[in-house]
Amino acid sequence: MALVGCGSAAPAISISNQQLSERVDTSDDWIRSRTGIGARRIASADEPLTELASRAARAALDHAGWAPGDLDLILLATSSPDDLFGTAPRVQGALGAMNAVAFDLTAACSGFLFALITAAQYIATGAVRRSLVIGADQLSRWLDWNDRRTCVLFGDGAAAVAVEACPVSETGLLGFRMRSDGSRYACLTLAQTDGRETLLPGVSTQKGGFAPIFMNGQEVYKFAVREVPQLLGEVLAATGTPADQVDWLLLHQANQRILDAVADRFAVPHERVLSNLAHYGNTSAATIPLMLDEAVRDGRIQPGQLLASSGFGAGLSWGAALLRWDGPRG
Ligand code: ACO
Repeated sequence: MALVGCGSAAPAISISNQQLSERVDTSDDWIRSRTGIGARRIASADEPLTELASRAARAALDHAGWAPGDLDLILLATSSPDDLFGTAPRVQGALGAMNAVAFDLTAACSGFLFALITAAQYIATGAVRRSLVIGADQLSRWLDWNDRRTCVLFGDGAAAVAVEACPVSETGLLGFRMRSDGSRYACLTLAQTDGRETLLPGVSTQKGGFAPIFMNGQEVYKFAVREVPQLLGEVLAATGTPADQVDWLLLHQANQRILDAVADRFAVPHERVLSNLAHYGNTSAATIPLMLDEAVRDGRIQPGQLLASSGFGAGLSWGAALLRWDGPRG
């Protein structure tokens, strides 16, 4: 599988830490010093996820030089779909990618990496030749805007990567690992509310609905700084790649302190750690491709460079991959 195009889209509305401090008891200094976040984009009420994801997808198609009809598979990693039955088909319809099968994949902030690895498996079997892997989330829908422990952390965004079949010797997915630990699921949830409804005497059903995001920040922080370097280290060892050969650390953007801790563990200089937390906050499944797209378009990431990537979050789930960016084929 070769990575040959990318694109992104973010809502126009940007909310600064200062603006948030007018809503909840927080400050620019607290948020910046603990997380590195300075602002976040927030989708308006009439801006559905489908629209954001479709914009990102079109940008990635253009970048790769593909027509919608070229696509065989669209994977949408999201935890905030417009429709629980699936939002990927809506994106497929909006693109007019009528030859593609499209479905959602949910793994919170690990979603994009899990989806990219999933697409690679379809490509490896020969079932799929060209795929768009989209990471898109609007967690603003699921925040308690009165809970300062969570609402300052998240933002909305979407980004996509175009991947296609290539000879095995030229693959852009050099190695990967994926992990889940459901015994720790309660650290970070966007869970069903307890809404019982009596259907008939003695028969009750659960009414659909979700409670806002709950996070035990300290537990998630400890999990991330322990597990991410461990898994990334396994991938580097398995591929025989010394850390000093990695061009960029492309990590899930949750907290600058986590990025710095992982960089220190591998002695990667901080200027090789990609970060756009200051502008977007944590956009969940979108952070990794959003960061990739920004760094490809401003010329930091060059064709042929190696990216050590890791996504981690609710589930708990985490994954790591060593990627090579190819860029559009001439
Ligand atoms: N503004 C001001 N004060 C605050 C805020 C805020 N926004 N939030 C919490 N505080 C206060 C707390 O009330 C507490 O005050 P107290 O000591 O009087 O009780 C104090 O600040 C310290 O709170 P902690 O929770 O201990 O703060 P901590 O230093 O742990 O930082 C943070 C919190 C930033 C959330 C950190 O724990 C973190 O980054 N965790 C990891 C998050 C993460 O990586 N998520 C990724 C997955 S997301 C996904 O999968 C969807």
